[in-house]
Amino acid sequence: MAVPPGAWFCWSSLLGGLETLEAEDSFCLSLTLFDCGCFVMATSLISRQLAFSLQKNLWLSASGCRYVSKAAAKPQVEFDYDGPSMKTTVPGPRSKELMKQLGQIQNTGAINFFCNYEESKGNYLVDVDGNRMLDIYTQISSIPIGYNHPALLKVMANPNNLSTFVNRPALGILPPENFPDKITESLLSVAPSGMTRVQTMSCGACSNENAYKAIFIWYRNKERGQNTPTNEELNTSMINQAPGCPQLSILSFMGGFHGRTLGCLATTHSKAIHKLDIPSFDWPVAPFPRLQYPLDEFTRENAEEEARCLEEVEDLIVKWRQKGKPVAGIVIEPIQAEGGDNHASPDFFRRLRNIARKHGCAFHVDEVQTGGGGTGKFWAHEHWGMDDPADVVSFSKKLLSGGYYHKDELQPDKPYRIFNTWMGDPSKNLFLSEVLNVIRRENLLEEVTRSGKALLNGLYELQAQYPSILSRARGQGTFCAIDAFDDATRDRILLKARDKGVLLGGCGDRSIRFRPALVFKEYHVNLFLNIFNDVLAQHK
Ligand SMILES: Cc1ncc(COP(=O)(O)O)c(C=O)c1O
Repeated sequence: MAVPPGAWFCWSSLLGGLETLEAEDSFCLSLTLFDCGCFVMATSLISRQLAFSLQKNLWLSASGCRYVSKAAAKPQVEFDYDGPSMKTTVPGPRSKELMKQLGQIQNTGAINFFCNYEESKGNYLVDVDGNRMLDIYTQISSIPIGYNHPALLKVMANPNNLSTFVNRPALGILPPENFPDKITESLLSVAPSGMTRVQTMSCGACSNENAYKAIFIWYRNKERGQNTPTNEELNTSMINQAPGCPQLSILSFMGGFHGRTLGCLATTHSKAIHKLDIPSFDWPVAPFPRLQYPLDEFTRENAEEEARCLEEVEDLIVKWRQKGKPVAGIVIEPIQAEGGDNHASPDFFRRLRNIARKHGCAFHVDEVQTGGGGTGKFWAHEHWGMDDPADVVSFSKKLLSGGYYHKDELQPDKPYRIFNTWMGDPSKNLFLSEVLNVIRRENLLEEVTRSGKALLNGLYELQAQYPSILSRARGQGTFCAIDAFDDATRDRILLKARDKGVLLGGCGDRSIRFRPALVFKEYHVNLFLNIFNDVLAQHK
């Protein structure tokens, strides 16, 4: 049964005999029943036992119906379209033609379809065949406030900004006059607790790569007790030998993803295809907790699993020190994203941070994917409630510029040690300032929390309704995921959803990840859930 956008599908199918109700009707019925405290009236329609087992689902779906339908305002049309519109399957004929053309120049194996960015707006990505899709993947989680946001177009059209867009400086040697002010008003205004320094870079991987270098430099200076290297160190560094190139390591986690450059790749463990044939370092890899969801129903089991992983971390640190390859830093994502949206508790991260401190390792939190508001807080690590959450926090994607914040002591002691030609892009700082204004003005983090709740509740509902297809719904804010039965099922669902006008991403072995922009409201959640329900109903 196709349900119009804004209605959310009905929970009546859960009640068996009530399944012919229209979505809005059943939802109103649920409202009446719950509001009057007359749940007992509803249970008279079904067996007491069934009612009990469904109570949680009813509550979730009822809240999904109720709040989405009543409170979810339609989007402002000048920022957004009012729904998907599909003309062809995706990729359509024009996309296929372009793929062929580009295929003669590059490997196009990863290209989904070609886009019309001029026509894309708000939460909707339009392709070259005129298909308009609700984008819940947002260029691998990198669009903060939707396509062609008017506030960003204004920044672009402001004549005072022209030279920033036209002249890209080599920032490390020739920054523009307004650079300190612009960086203060953008990146430093959202600096993680305890950090007043930030180094801009261009992408996620080069941010992590340079952060690792800063960690190694810091660690060696600590070991030396001074900053001046010996001649032997200088000479051996030129032939890749110790002591100039010391045998230091970064501890990372199985399932983690930190980028594809050589150093980062040694800490990336999500998929073999990223790593195959590339020489790497002998660096320790700890297990990341494999938790059971929903987290609050498995607190004891999950705490045991986290304790096991933390013990392994300490063992590895000791082992690698004994091997002569001390761990200079620990790198971790607050939610393992590419590796399958794996969560860990705030307690796990607090204890890990303490382990890093105890063993003199820098604690590097990679917020390239989680940073920028998708979890309902600007930084995912804010959910840990710590004053001193990290020594390094790297970012990119929704922040528009790459880079990393760091503690004062990780400031490199000499020029050119952390350096490349561009070291970021001042035009991205202009956009970021405006993105931050929009986030504050429109309370977008609260919106994310609200729509995230609706999304997760909807996913709980769907996994209860389609237990043979879906499981392990999880998330923080709109940074949500759900598992499909297997990878083939997941891939089929992603393609079906796309043909129905919803763009989603995959991650891990069989997970579907949700990475909408911060302007993804309850209205859009609602729209998505209806389409997703249709896809699942057809998949059965
Ligand atoms: C957590 C994390 N770190 C690093 C990266 C690498 O970023 P980039 O693709 O910009 O190099 C990604 C990319 O998805 C990521 O999710």
